[in-house]
Amino acid sequence: SSPLRLGIAGLGTVGIGVVKIVQKHVDLLARRSGRDLAITAISARDRMKNRDADLSSYRWEADPMAVATADDVDVYVELIGGDDGIARDSIEAALRAGKDVVTANKALLAMHGQALAELAESLGRVIRFEAAVAGGIPVIKTMTESLAGNDVTRVMGVMNGTCNYILTRMESAGLPYEAVFEEARQLGYLEADPTLDVGGIDAGHKLAILSAIAFGTRVDFGAVEIEGIERVSIDDIRRAADLGYRIKLLGVAQMTARGLEQRMSPCLVPADSPLGQLSGGTNMVVVEGDSVGQIVLRGAGAGEGPTASAVMSDIVEIAREVRLPVFGQPAAQLTLAQPARTAVP
Ligand code: NDP
Ligand code: HSE
Repeated sequence: SSPLRLGIAGLGTVGIGVVKIVQKHVDLLARRSGRDLAITAISARDRMKNRDADLSSYRWEADPMAVATADDVDVYVELIGGDDGIARDSIEAALRAGKDVVTANKALLAMHGQALAELAESLGRVIRFEAAVAGGIPVIKTMTESLAGNDVTRVMGVMNGTCNYILTRMESAGLPYEAVFEEARQLGYLEADPTLDVGGIDAGHKLAILSAIAFGTRVDFGAVEIEGIERVSIDDIRRAADLGYRIKLLGVAQMTARGLEQRMSPCLVPADSPLGQLSGGTNMVVVEGDSVGQIVLRGAGAGEGPTASAVMSDIVEIAREVRLPVFGQPAAQLTLAQPARTAVP
């Protein structure tokens, strides 16, 4: 059969990671996809930038819109970023032009994912976003495929590696928040707007996407109760340790009698639990299903290889013609008056 033709907009950390995997695993990907994959068009801001990959055989477009709507593109891969603007416009243009879409854009999906998914469905197209939640951890496909025979009862996770790094480092080095925040900045761990990380917003975006998948509801970022890590002190961490707990920026989503509860906040977790043993920049997602019980997924939530790995899984899924919608119906969304520093079993 004919190759699946990819147009990639955004050639930064993730975009170049995708190019490298497509180039490195030609045969493997063809076998797993049931057809060849071929990059046809690419776009980024600066054509002259050295990008650590051979891009010479792909058509360069100065405007991502040209990639999104090109006749020789079947799948538009949006890896630009931003919760609106060109990322959103180009995805919409691609869907209207009859393309399927793959993106890693958690901020855009949290804000506009429902509308984009509905647009895709109305046009008979799909939008896929495995990389948007917990980077390289295949949590979305785990829920939609591997746990298909389960009513998910609760999903929890540490989904911002930067916050987990900061909390872990405060604990191990006995340093105050401000000092470790500065360290994280110098190491390049923080998003361009650091409040996205430390304010719990980035993790909240991921939880909104994840809980919509887990509970078959609409994506509703506004219903996520969010508290960041800015006010966690060394004393908090020490007192928690004395009691056998660690503090994690933990997302919890569960269906209650009053509706869907979604919280992202610093929580006490038992030090000897899987979540309590998670250190550094790693992510962890815990899913509880009525048939399977509890499963724990752990891995890199960011970085070139892990994030591109998740993007590739979406491309291969589209090549295999798996075309079911992933988001669901409206659900009563619960707003908690008192977001919590509660202990999680
Ligand atoms: P980068 O900042 O590394 O790359 C962004 C790319 O988009 C660059 O190539 C840039 O061009 C290009 N770009 C920016 N604006 C425009 C524009 N107006 N027109 C054309 N191209 C543009 O981002 P990442 O690769 O890190 O992230 C991409 C997406 O993946 C984001 O949505 C991010 O949230 C998500 N993500 C990233 C993870 C990670 O570990 N990095 C993890 C999970 C998700 P140029 O290079 O010329 O400046
Ligand atoms: N800032 C994010 C993190 C990047 O630290 O987890 C990956 O989404």
